[in-house]
Amino acid sequence: MRSRILVLISGNGSNLQAIINACKSENYPGEVVAVISNKADVYGLTRAQEANIDAQVLSHQSFDSRENYDQALMKLIDGYQPDLIVLAGFMRILTPAFVQKYHEKLLNIHPSLLPKYQGLNTHQRAIDAGDTEHGVSVHFVTEELDGGPVILQAKVPIFKGDIADELAARVHEQEHRIYPLVVKWFCQQRLVMKNEAALFDGNLLPASGYASEEYNYM
Ligand code: GAR
Repeated sequence: MRSRILVLISGNGSNLQAIINACKSENYPGEVVAVISNKADVYGLTRAQEANIDAQVLSHQSFDSRENYDQALMKLIDGYQPDLIVLAGFMRILTPAFVQKYHEKLLNIHPSLLPKYQGLNTHQRAIDAGDTEHGVSVHFVTEELDGGPVILQAKVPIFKGDIADELAARVHEQEHRIYPLVVKWFCQQRLVMKNEAALFDGNLLPASGYASEEYNYM
């Protein structure tokens, strides 16, 4: 049975698209059953509709507190009985109640080589710091913002004279490669979070995730 994936978005949804495309490939172990956005009129919703996936808007503007919004979101999510919740550019800070409820089945993608550059404007910050490499991390979500255990990272170079948009585009390309892969591992139950650590095939992943030199692939 294919795992039921629910994707949360706030915008363009290019990572959502990468996952939708991957789900179409033969033997992919998951299917996107719903997409929920906290913003109306974003392109990610169109992508879902075009793929005949249930697309819902739950605007945060209709709620007076973060807690109340997350309660409503949980109710909406539970109607779909997902096995996995994928944050794909969902630009909201989650309440502890939300994170605890979906603990161990909540993935996020963040455009930096965590633990560097948690939060916003990661591309500009990497350029401003004079870094020569940058990248993206997929991680399990814990109560610490952008702080959960890293599963997989991809690196890109920063070239002299790069502007943030160019760097973002380079990072995006890698995002679209690694997110469907990590989602696949989760659906195959090769990837789990236990005691706030990520395990792959039963082995503890190092701080930089699977691609790290420290990890013995065998
Ligand atoms: C992606 O670059 C993702 O890494 C980032 O938002 C973008 C969404 O793009 N996420 C965060 O910054 C989360 N802190 P998309 O809507 O085209 O997938």
